[in-house]
Amino acid sequence: MTANIQNFRTIWLKPDDPSIVQIIDQTKLPHEYVVRDLSNYREGAQAIREMLVRGAPLIGATAAWSLYLAAIEGSETEDPVSFVKQAAIELGETRPTAVNLRWALDRVLGVIRQSGENRDLVSLLRSEAQSICDEDVEISWNIGVHGCALLEEIAEEKSGEVVNVLTHCNAGALATINWGTATAPIYVARQRGIDVHVWVDETRPRNQGSQLTCWELARNGVPHTLIVDNAGGHLMQRGQVDICITGTDRTTRTGDVANKIGTYLKALAAHDNAIPFYVALPSTSIDWTIQDGMTEIPIEERDTHEVSHVRGMHGNDVREVKTVADGSAIRNYAFDVTPARLITGLITECGICEPSEEGLARLFPDFAKRAS
Ligand code: MRU
Repeated sequence: MTANIQNFRTIWLKPDDPSIVQIIDQTKLPHEYVVRDLSNYREGAQAIREMLVRGAPLIGATAAWSLYLAAIEGSETEDPVSFVKQAAIELGETRPTAVNLRWALDRVLGVIRQSGENRDLVSLLRSEAQSICDEDVEISWNIGVHGCALLEEIAEEKSGEVVNVLTHCNAGALATINWGTATAPIYVARQRGIDVHVWVDETRPRNQGSQLTCWELARNGVPHTLIVDNAGGHLMQRGQVDICITGTDRTTRTGDVANKIGTYLKALAAHDNAIPFYVALPSTSIDWTIQDGMTEIPIEERDTHEVSHVRGMHGNDVREVKTVADGSAIRNYAFDVTPARLITGLITECGICEPSEEGLARLFPDFAKRAS
């Protein structure tokens, strides 16, 4: 990423070979910037599962591009559509919590269903994957514009003093196609001359905060400070946080939010300290089929290796070290659910609403109608 975020993308077609999709390998950041080729849908599935790409919107976009790769491979078979459908089943099993995955797969399969027999499947899926990405950039930008109004208001209240935002995990440009969701209001605010500083939660176990959010904020000249996950409450008690903004992997139609493990604790601390807690999300992260986040959202549990080990730089080498002795049980819950009652508002591409069925239905009447 250069300082010019305008031209940044997290996934694209290889310029001189459109049968290859390219991604930034996020498991290598921040120490190495490595671009990887995806040459078939299985590599796409692996990139999602092993988190070379991650973040709900980017997971969805990678799944869409993977179906395009499946269409290329499937064109050599007798039944390309069945080949693509089988790929969709495999891709759908890669990560359970981010609903954008299912949304993207359903959208692409829907487009195939609606197209006639004489369709060119490869061009159709290429154009659909491209549209999903282009739309995501626009959605993130609009989230930024709506969310910026909140930062503007705080800046005014503080007579232009710096606005301190706390964020968790990476709901940044790296988690989307560009701009991010939680970071989009920050990027827009910076462009409008608002003085913003970001408290970045480290976000154990995979450290998306220190490894990804810090990386992208630094590259874009956004003042920020890395803190350990448990520091947020302390800062809130001392008036050093004006607003919390996080992303989400799945939001119920009633406004409960699943996001990276630890989000709930930040919301509790914000509630106790009367600090506004906002969640920024594209409508593609809303699961209109469910209403109770606590019981209906599948929570991913990942390999315990992510908890027992940490990766970092040692001299010139990237190394992994074990932090716990053998013999202890370990669990690795990747997400938690923050109930709507702890959330001040949802920042979407269509505006800001209260986290409730009525609030979301006001912004997205068509979706809400179809769901009821
Ligand atoms: O496990 P990850 O890194 O995919 O988790 C990412 C998050 O929790 C993000 O906050 C969420 O996907 C929103 S991304 C705009």
